[in-house]
Amino acid sequence: MRLILYLGKGGVGKTTTSAATAVRSAELGHRTLVVSTDVAHSLADALDVPLGSKPTPIAENLWGQEINVLDEVREHWGELRNYLATLLKRKGVDDVASEELAIIPGMEEVVSLLHIRRQARQGNFDAVIVDAAPTGETIRLLTMPETFQWYASRVMDWDSGTMSLAKPLVRALIPATNAFDQVKKLQAGVEALRETLTDPEISSYRLVVNPERIVIKEAQRAATYLALFGYPVDGVVLNRVLPRTAVEGAFMQQMADMQTGYRQQVHDLFAPLPIWEAPHYPHDVTGVERLAAVGRALFKQDDPTKVFFRGKTQEIIKDGEDYMLKLPLPHVEIGKVGITKRGDELFISIGNFKRDMILPLTLAERPAKRAVFKDGMLEVRFGPPETPTPG
Ligand SMILES: Nc1ncnc2c1ncn2[C@@H]1O[C@H](COP(=O)(O)OP(=O)(O)OP(=O)(O)O)[C@@H](O)[C@H]1O
Ligand SMILES: [Mg+2]
Repeated sequence: MRLILYLGKGGVGKTTTSAATAVRSAELGHRTLVVSTDVAHSLADALDVPLGSKPTPIAENLWGQEINVLDEVREHWGELRNYLATLLKRKGVDDVASEELAIIPGMEEVVSLLHIRRQARQGNFDAVIVDAAPTGETIRLLTMPETFQWYASRVMDWDSGTMSLAKPLVRALIPATNAFDQVKKLQAGVEALRETLTDPEISSYRLVVNPERIVIKEAQRAATYLALFGYPVDGVVLNRVLPRTAVEGAFMQQMADMQTGYRQQVHDLFAPLPIWEAPHYPHDVTGVERLAAVGRALFKQDDPTKVFFRGKTQEIIKDGEDYMLKLPLPHVEIGKVGITKRGDELFISIGNFKRDMILPLTLAERPAKRAVFKDGMLEVRFGPPETPTPG
């Protein structure tokens, strides 16, 4: 089974790309499910068919689904949530606040993914395409398996520690509680989920961008964090490229020129990942037929479900007191290496090649000491954080 997740800033075309990939995958004969985990679903609009919370058949080999996230949370998290809320209320937190506090952030996304994983196995799908919420939330979702383990172990401590005094009382308040069994089950599920999500033969993450500055910036940040947590990215979709032949008039000319710059930037920034381009259509791209055209524009003769890139796009390793950032830049020619760091941004130049990247916080607070470029690999060494001088 292949699990393909599209990430990107709001409105860049995640739903369109997910649906287009699914349509193309189904055309090629794979049993394909496209599923939306965004609470604000728009998958049904994109496909132009009504969808339910169970896989709905759309065409040959193609199913669609909009998960009811709230139902999922209630099912997997309901009892524990009651339990936590009761404890919080006993601590004097008011009713509404304790209900809210009893939800672990990112829980919605975790249960959606658990649901997708379970169902993908039962339904014998060859390919499951996930149309996720905009990047910020999705990145939080993806760091969630770890965060969740941390929360869950806290909740368990809570039960065996100081809070155990309150326990019999709480148990009396929620007689049917098996909240802790629920945590244990979830913990096991989340662990298996993390395994699936980081297995490059199963899961692929694809960033969707438009030729626009802020959109590209956000995708760079996403790329950094995905790499940091070990999630395999295998390509970038560049959506809404103005077709050169259709450009007329000074305004459109200027816009197309600007796009050309950003387009080049996308190719430079995300190499060695493949960049798939789709034109800016003069109409909405809804319905299976138009989506199939988008799928073909993006992937040409390729099967969109294959793994397009294997290996790390960046790597951070600890070396004594230092950290080493390793960036494979296979197409870059040897030249003078320059690095400048500003806040969490690192500007790299090697001869004529330029790239900037967003650093994760661990590296942002450290000075970049040295950079070497050898055998297509850039290595930047970061020293221990500088302690601010008093006064
Ligand atoms: N290449 C394109 N050419 C023309 N219109 C497009 C293109 N790609 C997407 N659209 C249109 O842009 C709108 C937004 O696209 P879409 O819903 O796929 O974005 P999204 O990233 O999923 O948004 P959200 O973050 O709100 O979920 C839709 O109306 C879609 O039909
Ligand atoms: Mg969407």
